[in-house]
Amino acid sequence: MLLTLQGIKKSYHLGGNIVPALRGIDLMVHHGDFMALMGPSGSGKSTLLNLCGLLDVPDEGTIHLDDGEVGQLPERARTLIRRQRIGFVFQGFNLVPVLTVHDNVEYPLLLSAMPRAAREERIDWILGRTGLSRFGHHLPDQLSGGQRQRVAIARALVKRPELVIADEPTANLDTVTATEIIDLMHELACDAATTFVIATHDERMAKRCARVIHVQDGVILS
Ligand SMILES: Nc1ncnc2c1ncn2[C@@H]1O[C@H](COP(=O)(O)OP(=O)(O)OP(=O)(O)O)[C@@H](O)[C@H]1O
Ligand SMILES: [Mg+2]
Repeated sequence: MLLTLQGIKKSYHLGGNIVPALRGIDLMVHHGDFMALMGPSGSGKSTLLNLCGLLDVPDEGTIHLDDGEVGQLPERARTLIRRQRIGFVFQGFNLVPVLTVHDNVEYPLLLSAMPRAAREERIDWILGRTGLSRFGHHLPDQLSGGQRQRVAIARALVKRPELVIADEPTANLDTVTATEIIDLMHELACDAATTFVIATHDERMAKRCARVIHVQDGVILS
């Protein structure tokens, strides 16, 4: 088992109010899963993804990555695990606007201190796989929405992470482009034996996912 979440509760504090976002979640993510989290707006999908990606910590419950408990590790230790093992694709791309496509994709490799020749090899590979070989020197604002989302996917996968967390990766894309992005993620998941956990409203995305988990009001519907 790659990830095991047990008894997860998470609330946000907003002004004087406590907003319960997750109210008792048990979830197992197997190695090689291509999993969709679906549910209405506000149901807790992004909150759950942030916990799976070790971006945040639960109020209650445990998160095991392989056999180690990681849910309560300090920020520094979680950051190291994220850099080594987890890639992120966010809605709205999150690309650095002043960096070229090449440099945006290189960034996670710089954080992992990979030597230059190995970095260039990885960047060539993922730009090829995402159909971006000709766009290495472009800036993000010189690309279409679909191309930008492919850069975001290339950046998430260039490290060959074991786990990719994707939050609404096809939001803001037209149907044709969304379908291309879904197919690309699916191919990359198969090729690189990468595990994907994807929050989506997109039925087409969910159809491609071997597992679909429905979240509502902070719990998983079974
Ligand atoms: N930073 C925050 N501060 C306060 N409340 C928050 C915060 N983030 C999320 N929430 C609340 O937690 C609940 C779950 O939010 P979450 O973002 O996980 O939902 P979601 O399923 O991802 O929704 P969407 O489909 O709109 O992205 C909602 O009630 C939301 O208002
Ligand atoms: Mg969300």
